[in-house]
Amino acid sequence: MSKVTVVGAGNVGATAANIMAIREVADEVVMIDIKEGISEGKAMDMMQTAALLDMNTRIKGVTNDYEATANSDVVVITSGIPRKPGMTREELIGVNAGIVKQVTESVLKYSPNAVIVCVSNPMDTMTYLIHKVAGIPKNRIIGMGGALDSNRFKYYLSQALKANPNEVEGFVIGGHGDTTMIPLKRFATLRGIPVENFLSKEVIDKVVADTMVGGATLTKLLGTSAWYAPGAATSEVVEAVLHDQKALIPCSALLDGEYGEKDLCIGVLCELGRNGIERIVELDLNEEEKELFRKSAAAVKATNEALPA
Ligand code: NAI
Ligand code: 2OP
Repeated sequence: MSKVTVVGAGNVGATAANIMAIREVADEVVMIDIKEGISEGKAMDMMQTAALLDMNTRIKGVTNDYEATANSDVVVITSGIPRKPGMTREELIGVNAGIVKQVTESVLKYSPNAVIVCVSNPMDTMTYLIHKVAGIPKNRIIGMGGALDSNRFKYYLSQALKANPNEVEGFVIGGHGDTTMIPLKRFATLRGIPVENFLSKEVIDKVVADTMVGGATLTKLLGTSAWYAPGAATSEVVEAVLHDQKALIPCSALLDGEYGEKDLCIGVLCELGRNGIERIVELDLNEEEKELFRKSAAAVKATNEALPA
């Protein structure tokens, strides 16, 4: 029996719960929110697709009832406020830090052994906050951002290449922010062939720039931040953990000397399995990439400074 709790049944939380249920990532998915009835309603709506979709996952929704989340194997934290057009992820820190702290304490009371996946923004800083509050082994705290940004990178690459996104590989490390993320163009491939064989430097640079503002582009169109790809990327991370996939996915991890950095959470390539982040794969970055990583880490650390004491 495997169980996942999703805290926050808003756009991202509910989408992640729905995709996890359809893909049967876990036997049971519990959604919990502070807004009366929202989790219960969304859970009921999703369960009414069970016969249509031949779905065997049980989905339950509760309001503020942490007992119902007890003994979860994975807890996903999406609670908090999202970006509005023109806002950066960093501007959410004050409100979201209070929410994430309270939620972390509540979930650990009932699921002391859970792996925690942080989605709430500014995600690298919220993941760092969870480390401070939770006091659990660092492998059990995963920040979800690079999984999403890498899929946005693959999308823009596939558009430029006029190729099926499934044929494209590419990943993004660094902070989950418009100016801090690092789409690693040197490692991007079409069926294993480096993309510079197909695209000019100018086009690749445009793909990188579009990827970096991928979230802001959607926020402008939607009036709030996106949810389909964020929900799917969250499901991908949870599936890698629960199914012990040993999958290589960029996630925000607490660094302890990797890339010469420590005491911050930032996106790096992680091997995910049943114990959470089982290995950090440190890439042999060139000088330009090292400099981008150093700048990104400095920006993430500066945001961490804004955390309430
Ligand atoms: P939303 O507003 O649709 O949903 C947030 C939900 O959290 C609401 O239903 C709200 O009632 C609930 N909530 C607030 N305080 C709570 C508490 N103390 N306990 C339980 N539930 C609580 O927002 P959306 O679009 O789902 O985004 C959620 C968060 O995820 C935002 O911070 C957003 O910026 C972030 N995000 C992160 C991404 C990433 O890649 N890391 C991608 C997309 C969004
Ligand atoms: C996104 O990247 C805002 O983090 C959110 O869509």
